Amino acid sequence: MPNALTIRGLTKTYANGVRALRGIDLDVPPGMFGLLGPNGAGKSTLMRTVATLQDPDAGTVTLGEIDVLRDKDATRRVLGYLPQDFGVYPHLDPLSLLDHFAVLKGIVDRGERKAMVEALLQRVNLWNVRKKRLGGFSGGMKQRFGIAQALLGAPRLVIVDEPTAGLDPEERTRFLNLLAEIGEQVVVVLSTHIVDDVADLCAQMAIIAGGQVLHRSEPREAIEAMRGKTWRKVIDKQDLEQHRERHTVISTRLVAGRTVIHVFDEHDPGHGFAAVDPDLEDVYFTTLRRAA
Ligand SMILES: Nc1ncnc2c1ncn2[C@@H]1O[C@H](COP(=O)(O)OP(=O)(O)O)[C@@H](O)[C@H]1O
Ligand SMILES: [Mg+2]
Repeated sequence: MPNALTIRGLTKTYANGVRALRGIDLDVPPGMFGLLGPNGAGKSTLMRTVATLQDPDAGTVTLGEIDVLRDKDATRRVLGYLPQDFGVYPHLDPLSLLDHFAVLKGIVDRGERKAMVEALLQRVNLWNVRKKRLGGFSGGMKQRFGIAQALLGAPRLVIVDEPTAGLDPEERTRFLNLLAEIGEQVVVVLSTHIVDDVADLCAQMAIIAGGQVLHRSEPREAIEAMRGKTWRKVIDKQDLEQHRERHTVISTRLVAGRTVIHVFDEHDPGHGFAAVDPDLEDVYFTTLRRAA
């Protein structure tokens, strides 16, 4: 495949001894790819490594014909990256800051740059506020500016690291819609700890935890594989421990003051359990539980 991202044997141990990546192998085709994992899983370490900002201890990364870790300049020319801790200059406006980023990206032709910056500001719906200070923007507006700078220069690889954390539902939907509109030939890696981000948007996904890939699938297939094995029961809170001892409890949640549990079982567990339509949360929590 001409524009696939291929990751092999990536390892990273930080100076403090934390093994953040323990041999990551991953094939990421063009389209939206969800990298799902809890805090501390190693998502940002992996994202920064692929974005050439940090070297691993071992392993290789290629994007099509580009050796990402060796040929950092070539990678950066085709890369758009929205880091987890994206900060904006509060006293600048989107128009001048995006123009500045475009210069850094090597878009030197003034006319070309102006056209690109203006088109992007329209696309992310910041055109009306293009001359307002970024410091006064909401989280969602800042993230939309972040995706605009990541899309400068028509990248082949777009990496967005936990972009929806802290956004309200409306802002989140708006942001995800922007991601969904990125071209089909572009590899888009969305790292997140929010299952719905992946469920709503990604054709392909991986679950990582403890620096390892635990699961790699198409979300729809993974959900289907849980069908007939996912069971639900409403219980009293004080009975939770007892249920944990007897069943593979994959999730618990409070619904109107009652505790609703989901368990994984190849067969009907009886005892008041009912089959449920599995969803990606069931896949995610089952995967994490098995690895624990
Ligand atoms: N610069 C660093 N120095 C030392 N440890 C780090 C550093 N960055 C991350 N870690 C540790 O590496 C592990 C993976 O972190 P990270 O890649 O940020 O995961 P995630 O993005 O999935 O939350 C965590 O245990 C974290 O504390
Ligand atoms: Mg992170």
